[in-house]
Amino acid sequence: MMSLERMSLLAVVVVAAAFTTVSGASYGVGEPNGGWDMQTNYTAWASSINFHLGDQLVFKYSPAAHDVVEVTKAGYDACSAASPVAIHRTGQDAVELNRLGSRYFICGVPGHCNAGMKLQVRTRCGSALPPGGGVCLDGSSPPTIISSPGVISYSSSPASSGIFSTVIVTMAATTVILILLMV
Ligand SMILES: *[C@@H]1O[C@H](CO)[C@@H](O)[C@H](O)[C@H]1NC(C)=O
Repeated sequence: MMSLERMSLLAVVVVAAAFTTVSGASYGVGEPNGGWDMQTNYTAWASSINFHLGDQLVFKYSPAAHDVVEVTKAGYDACSAASPVAIHRTGQDAVELNRLGSRYFICGVPGHCNAGMKLQVRTRCGSALPPGGGVCLDGSSPPTIISSPGVISYSSSPASSGIFSTVIVTMAATTVILILLMV
């Protein structure tokens, strides 16, 4: 017979596993035809993708030539990196889309933003919801209702597939159930 404490602990583990293993798609900014460069039209690039909570952007570029500055809408509109939200300089910068709404990125090298190195992404509801379902309000109408976290559909193909997250969730759930049965 399991103690109440042990059951509560397992419940926490189940929920934590479901949350932490649900990871979304990873998108190389500007790919497949470009990168973080002066040629890509990022308005066109971003409009072809539905970004979801838990997805990741990866900015790939030469750190000698560019950087990535996350800015506010005002900074984006004015092409100003004067009040950065965050600065990235590795040339392989992963940014997690961990909150709903719009985020703005520009290249901080003078002239580059005005030449087109500016990206706006809008993050919508994704798979990072409690197991068993949930309702996500992201301003889209009607609200997204996810009835099963094991079934994740993307309306455009991500660069590297979100299938992995589905597999991981399934594996995590299976493991937890096995542990529960063994205790
Ligand atoms: C980039 O693409 C958008 C949407 O397709 C278009 O409206 C805009 O004119 C393009 N910008 C440039 C500089 O080509």
